[in-house]
Amino acid sequence: MSNSGSLASLTRDFERFKRELPRDFPSLVRDTYRINLAARYLGRPLPHPIGKGSGQLSLNSGQLETDAEAGLAFAVLKTVIAQDAAGDQSMAAWAIHESKMKVERRGAGWTVTWKGRGWDRSFDEYLALVRAGRDLTRAGRLLAVPSVKYHLPRLDEAFRDSEYAYTTRALATAWRDAPLLLEKDFSPTLAGDALAEEKQQILRWLREVPQRIRAHGDVRLSMKLMNARFDDDFQAEMMKAAASADALVVFNRLFDSTAGVAYGGPELSDRNLRVLACLTPGASPGIPELSGTGDIHSGRMIVHYALRGCSSVQLHTFFQLPLEEYPATDGSRTQRALHALVFDPRDGLLAVMLEREAAGTLARRGGELRFLDLLPGEDR
Ligand SMILES: Cc1cc2nc3c(=O)[nH]c(=O)nc-3n(C[C@H](O)[C@H](O)[C@H](O)COP(=O)(O)O)c2cc1C
Repeated sequence: MSNSGSLASLTRDFERFKRELPRDFPSLVRDTYRINLAARYLGRPLPHPIGKGSGQLSLNSGQLETDAEAGLAFAVLKTVIAQDAAGDQSMAAWAIHESKMKVERRGAGWTVTWKGRGWDRSFDEYLALVRAGRDLTRAGRLLAVPSVKYHLPRLDEAFRDSEYAYTTRALATAWRDAPLLLEKDFSPTLAGDALAEEKQQILRWLREVPQRIRAHGDVRLSMKLMNARFDDDFQAEMMKAAASADALVVFNRLFDSTAGVAYGGPELSDRNLRVLACLTPGASPGIPELSGTGDIHSGRMIVHYALRGCSSVQLHTFFQLPLEEYPATDGSRTQRALHALVFDPRDGLLAVMLEREAAGTLARRGGELRFLDLLPGEDR
């Protein structure tokens, strides 16, 4: 099909999928448009790059089931606070309960205001959620990845190894198949904490945490980096310090210390993309695989992150908008969000890839346009 033929077909598909998005849309896209959306997170192949970031939208097996049904590529489970065998949690201040979330406009985009932090139910209940995620992963329906916040010491303190040991082993046992894929969360609220006032302290965490976790299990580790309250250069320094992780999630929300809340929206994607641009093109030596997060509300924004090296993306806010904000008229929020992200004829992922083909900045290989070819250094 010619480029203009593809655009006409895209408009038709966008309209007809408003009622129902086919679950296996990546195969349909490959057959119809010769566009290969294959992507990657933590070394695992994904049918397309779009996943759900850790948070209030992956708290129970019902949410995971809906996501699997919609054809989401992966979901990161809500962050659990690590504990030792006696149930003690050094980061207990993060395990607080707060149910109210407010979805608000921020500049030209959206943010979610919420004062809660980590998982606030029992560790056993978290393990049950991990097992539900494991079953969906094993059935090939949705890649689920647990997320943990482990103890982070002051410079003159030791790591509490007992928390690293107990939590990692319990998760690995619940998951059963090695390796365990795991995210370690350095949250935006941490950026606002007195603990994070010192650069050397943060760099030590990033350097040492991977070995602390891996000492207790066969773990493939992703570290979700916070937006620290320092300049862009320090943000890049953090990425280099975290280079022994298998993947980095870049970067969690900004922190408003006056209001005491984390926030997203256009300021977040501006900052994230600016920092990532310092490190690419050509994949800076030593930087692991990247997964983008922050203000992703269109396929065009997915492409911005991919051009800066992200082989997958993790969204939260875009899965929480008021229903009337999505062009689809039926389906779960996950389906409606995927429909807009992939099929929007102007700013969807397919439209932007076809636009780049027409402009000569993305070439077909073996007759196909490939999502992963957007990444610097992947098209050879
Ligand atoms: C209400 C809410 C709760 C969140 N909870 C977590 C969490 O527990 N762990 C974590 O790593 N990220 C958490 N996040 C961050 C999201 O996963 C995501 O990385 C971030 O919001 C940026 O993406 P977005 O702009 O698409 O929302 C949370 C975000 C929101 C809005």
